[in-house]
Amino acid sequence: MSYGKKSDKSVQEHIRNKSALVVDMRSDTVSKPSPAMRRAMAEAEVGDDVYGEDPTVNSLQERAAKLLGKEAAIFVTSGTMGNLIAVMAHCDKRGCEIYCGEDSHIVLHEQGGAAQLGGVTVCPIQNNPDGTFDLARLSKKLKHDRSHEPISRLVACENTLNGKVVPQSWLDDVAAFAKQHQLKLHLDGARLWNASVASGLPAARIVRDFDSVTFCLSKGLGAPAGSLLCGSKIFIEAARRLRKVLGGGMRQSGILAAAGHVAIDEIVPLLKEDHRRARKIAEAVNEAGCKSFKVDLKLTHTNMVLVKVESDKFDAENFVAKLENVNGDEKVMVRALALEKQLARFVTYYEITDEMTDAAIVKILRVMKDLEGNQS
Ligand SMILES: Cc1ncc(COP(=O)(O)O)c(C=O)c1O
Repeated sequence: MSYGKKSDKSVQEHIRNKSALVVDMRSDTVSKPSPAMRRAMAEAEVGDDVYGEDPTVNSLQERAAKLLGKEAAIFVTSGTMGNLIAVMAHCDKRGCEIYCGEDSHIVLHEQGGAAQLGGVTVCPIQNNPDGTFDLARLSKKLKHDRSHEPISRLVACENTLNGKVVPQSWLDDVAAFAKQHQLKLHLDGARLWNASVASGLPAARIVRDFDSVTFCLSKGLGAPAGSLLCGSKIFIEAARRLRKVLGGGMRQSGILAAAGHVAIDEIVPLLKEDHRRARKIAEAVNEAGCKSFKVDLKLTHTNMVLVKVESDKFDAENFVAKLENVNGDEKVMVRALALEKQLARFVTYYEITDEMTDAAIVKILRVMKDLEGNQS
């Protein structure tokens, strides 16, 4: 995946000169703080959060804990930091092992931080298409020999996973399994609010049986930075110490937390619109009649559209590159990510309006048809 790649010059020029409508759907992390967030940030009451004296951070932490039905919460710099702190707090001895779906962010995109910094091994479990993994498979991976094997300690789930809402019945089964095997349970809920809105379940119900949960403010919620890690009071005390050693002790971070309050007030209620627009794109792709491009609508639950690109003549990278080309009268640039050779991803967020969605669909269909037309 080419994420993190800098935009080339022509992209930046089109943005600067407003010479094309740029519909940037690479990720919801590219969303920018809303005017209300910027105002709240400018006016935030602040203090030194390492001393526990920032009133805006404190109120956001209390709010997050309450929303998730947990005793306490801590504001951390990022989702990666929230997950790493959770792993390190649960695995409080060297030589522990954690279990995650093989498609999860912890396995694929966090540099193996659990091992690199926490002295913890990560055992990936094969994911099913719906984001679950088989508990029988997990059971076989658990370790019992204390003198030779790692210490089985934690199961970490992710919801949403690549835009999919993981079935609640399965999350409940994992929780029962974890309890039975005396394992801790963590949820990477970077996009927990998308899961809540799409499933209609309160966030507190989704995470009811989890010992710890992270959710992010800087993805589809539009805030510039920050995640919340929630759990018991004792767990959050341990997390506070770990946050400091990882360099995450910020001072007047109420400036960031203020944006988080606005994100919860104003952006969470808009997520259903992001989901509706993503669905519209997914349906348009399927209805275009191009046999090389397909979306699995059954797995399109939230703000991510994953388009399978299956052809001998072109791949997802060619598709994405053509979407970025602006030429002739067509003044629309669509930005997406080639996640894999045969998989392109489009992500909606609150700044992607209905007009932008419609313009993007016209461009996406035109490029699909051009690519297929050149195929024969
Ligand atoms: C599911 C998931 N978890 C964790 C993270 C990490 O968040 P951050 O980029 O804030 O470190 C991401 C980032 O996109 C994510 O998608």
